[in-house]
Amino acid sequence: MDKAYIKDIYRHPEKYADKEIQVEGWIRTLRASKAFGFIELNDGTFFKNLQVVFEENLENFKEVSKFGISTALIVKGKLVLTPGSKQAFEIKATSIEVEGHADKEYPLQKKRHSFEFLRSIAHLRPRSNTFSAVFRIRSLAAFAIHEFFQKRGFVYVHTPIITGSDCEGAGEMFRVTTLDLNNVPKNEEGKIDTTKDFFGKETNLTVSGQLQGEAYALAFRNIYTFGPTFRAENSNTARHAAEFWMIEPEIAFADLADNMELAEDMIKYIINYVLENAPEEMEFFSKFIDKGLLERLNNIVSSDFEKITYTKAIEILKSAKKEFEFPVEWGCDLQTEHERYITEEVYKKPVFVTDYPKDIKAFYMRMNDDNKTVAAMDLLVPGVGEIIGGSQREERLDVLESRIEEMGLHKDDYWWYLELRKYGGTRHAGFGLGFERVIMYLTGISNIRDVVSFPRTVKTAEF
Ligand code: 4AD
Ligand code: MG
Repeated sequence: MDKAYIKDIYRHPEKYADKEIQVEGWIRTLRASKAFGFIELNDGTFFKNLQVVFEENLENFKEVSKFGISTALIVKGKLVLTPGSKQAFEIKATSIEVEGHADKEYPLQKKRHSFEFLRSIAHLRPRSNTFSAVFRIRSLAAFAIHEFFQKRGFVYVHTPIITGSDCEGAGEMFRVTTLDLNNVPKNEEGKIDTTKDFFGKETNLTVSGQLQGEAYALAFRNIYTFGPTFRAENSNTARHAAEFWMIEPEIAFADLADNMELAEDMIKYIINYVLENAPEEMEFFSKFIDKGLLERLNNIVSSDFEKITYTKAIEILKSAKKEFEFPVEWGCDLQTEHERYITEEVYKKPVFVTDYPKDIKAFYMRMNDDNKTVAAMDLLVPGVGEIIGGSQREERLDVLESRIEEMGLHKDDYWWYLELRKYGGTRHAGFGLGFERVIMYLTGISNIRDVVSFPRTVKTAEF
């Protein structure tokens, strides 16, 4: 008797036809009459269930008929092809053994549950259809990203999680300390004496691996990071999490145009990969979560992304026949409502916005000749807004030093970063792709809490 995975049965039913097989899985639904019953069994290997038919002559027929949803079973029987009926095949059980009983109070019943409710049972929600699809897509997309970069010879760099530098200079960091908060050592000035801490200085969870990534790009030319990042921004929105994953490629001997080309190729690669490798899940999203998703994604891979400057974006927003909650003026940061207007109502596709005012962007972005804007690029997409933030980096030591001062940061904190400009500093550029944001984009899921296994957002860290 062969053990079979439901995924393999779906992909190659002919291989198993009329054979005795064993499948192991959990009951998704069960209905039984006096003479026979049906179980929809899910074994975790595939989005879809296998239909198990059992009949009166089964030794434990009565017991099986009463099993609750989520009971773990070992089913033996013959796989029969049933062309023309609702399912193309089913297994006729000769034996059904229980591996783990499920309490009748199991909270995931057959009806549709709200996402809010499912968040409160984050340990059980991967067993629902939607989350089974979301987390399989998440896994595939991660693989696609690695494959994309590895095929191009990029070196995968693991940048530190605990760090002493603030990449974005925005001060949104979680402190990491071994000091006893009830008994903090103070220095002569009465301030916390961080030299007494484990690392002998103030350290934080990383907000971005970019600065360390740049050091590696200036040795390996093309690198990428893919790891967790943390932001202590107190924004309770559907697109922000305190812990999220970021992909940060960094390329040397390259400028902003090269950077945008890389970003566009990468996004298209990920879309193609999940469309090819998870057609059932993608069809499900398009049908039940976001109507027309498949058509939209197919259009995106076959057309060019739009490119506009920030100044152009402001002109578009100012001439919009629409009242925005946040007023638009050259120099303002783009809010979600602005980003969505540009991508959803004007262009209806992904849009790169470039050359932002220097005052609303980070210190490391390369100053443009106008001395007012920097060589920045954000990628905005319909439904989500910003999924990528990136730039060409300032490689001129003197300009970089004066930018650090201008922004009220301390040169000493960045000594090693500045040295990269002294020893063979070249043109270079890079970007950060928010992994959760791209999953939202691929699935049509509208809340970041529903694409993270156990989300960390304001006031939520239960699991
Ligand atoms: O635009 P950000 O802040 O850029 C950087 O961190 C650069 N150092 C990246 C680089 O050039 N290497 O963040 C990059 C992306 C955003 O576009 C967004 O998709 C995501 O990271 N992101 C978040 N995702 C979820 N929750 C949050 N709180 C996020 N903050 C940023
Ligand atoms: Mg950004």
